[in-house]
Amino acid sequence: MQLDAEFFIINRMTARTIAPATGKLGVLTPGMGAVSSTFIAGVIAARNGISPPIGSVSQMANIRLGTKEENRNPLIREFVPLAELDDIVFGGWDPISPNALEAAKTAGVLEGRDLDTISSEMEAIVPMDAVFDQRWVSRLEGVRVKEIPNKWDQAMALIDDIATFKEENGCDRLVMVWCGSTEAYQEPSAVHATVAAFEQGLRDNDDNISPSQIYAYAALQSDVPYANGAPNLTTDLDCIVELSKLRGVPIAGKDFKTGQTLMKTMLAPGFKARMLGLRGWYSTNILGNRDGEVLDDPENFKTKEMSKLGVLGGILQPEVYPDLYGNIDHVVRINYYPPRGDNKEGWDAIDIFGWLGYPMQIKVDFLCRDSILAAPIVLDLALFMDLAHRAGVSGVQEWLSFYLKAPQAAGDPPAEQDLFIQQTKMKNTLREWMGEEPVTHSEAG
Ligand SMILES: NC(=O)c1ccc[n+]([C@@H]2O[C@H](COP(=O)([O-])OP(=O)(O)OC[C@H]3O[C@@H](n4cnc5c(N)ncnc54)[C@H](O)[C@@H]3O)[C@@H](O)[C@H]2O)c1
Repeated sequence: MQLDAEFFIINRMTARTIAPATGKLGVLTPGMGAVSSTFIAGVIAARNGISPPIGSVSQMANIRLGTKEENRNPLIREFVPLAELDDIVFGGWDPISPNALEAAKTAGVLEGRDLDTISSEMEAIVPMDAVFDQRWVSRLEGVRVKEIPNKWDQAMALIDDIATFKEENGCDRLVMVWCGSTEAYQEPSAVHATVAAFEQGLRDNDDNISPSQIYAYAALQSDVPYANGAPNLTTDLDCIVELSKLRGVPIAGKDFKTGQTLMKTMLAPGFKARMLGLRGWYSTNILGNRDGEVLDDPENFKTKEMSKLGVLGGILQPEVYPDLYGNIDHVVRINYYPPRGDNKEGWDAIDIFGWLGYPMQIKVDFLCRDSILAAPIVLDLALFMDLAHRAGVSGVQEWLSFYLKAPQAAGDPPAEQDLFIQQTKMKNTLREWMGEEPVTHSEAG
């Protein structure tokens, strides 16, 4: 009895009062290209009953509550107060795409027959003119761009866009999910150290401030949660973390976990669970979409490479298991190959070793569809970021690491990279917020 009482107190302490999801939720995506248009098309298809939202954990997954014997297993969307798909309104910015339908056609992810039935709704979604600077994405020529030279003024223009969108669409709340191109690689600099330094940098047109940072600043100043789907530094920057706490707004980053990294974070935890050694992992990708074209520039590829390389160390802990994981060659390549369009091919040559050090090889050839895997992540991040905001939490949402290739930690220890630990963390966070006990899968229950 004593133990039960303690558990009860722990849960009462972590349970949160969550405001109801009333009214419309605007989902704003800077970047309306392959991922964003596929996300929009899929949500419209789901709410018209054309296709279920496959791959969306928030919509399709159940969550066990209490002990096995209790047999309580509701859908997540019925357990936590999420916005309904019918209440989502779409918006965004893009320097090229004229509307979501054209973006989808250019991306070539979805077949004409899938777009035909929803074409009028898609065509009506017109992105706003972008804050864009070719210095950060050398392969793109922006044509629908705000002609505003100063970065502070650009931020104010985005804040105006956000307010206007909210009012014109009768939205109760907004979230922003970056679906724009990967920007050129950069290290944080002095201008990113504090909010005050960043604001001065905006006024001074500091070269180190990229467009994605201006969007994030505008979102947070407008009390709009911001999730970062690209490997850009945006949400990692001290100034953005500080601003998110100051404004009481959630942020999450970075880089949607799809394709090859998704596979990596499924397989590596398995090797580690069995204490099998790893000597090397050679990953190569060919893809032919606009993302691939952008990543063909070495500076943009470097940003992606950094985000992709981190996962194995985080999962395998070479410092704890030097005999098994202390000497790994991990190589990642991406090659732009137009014939494949969005249908990426990711090859993995994995060299593992077992009993008495005997080597074994595993080959994985994942013929995946990047945007088909990314679209449900955009939906889940949008819905869960909105939930977090209504639950009154702010700063880095580490519990959403499940969706992210290079997950950002809320404190000092790095975030978990193992997909299955990330799943447990996410579900237990939801349980705790709703006043339920975490599920540990121990013999006790
Ligand atoms: N497809 C995936 O599975 C996947 C996985 C992880 C991360 N990502 C990242 O998501 C992002 C989007 O991927 P995608 O396949 O849709 O690429 P995409 O090239 O089809 O779309 C990106 C869009 O962003 C726009 N853009 C560029 N700079 C902008 C700015 N400053 N403001 C507003 N819009 C801007 C481009 O015009 C383009 O239409 C990329 O950064 C990519 O690396 C994608």
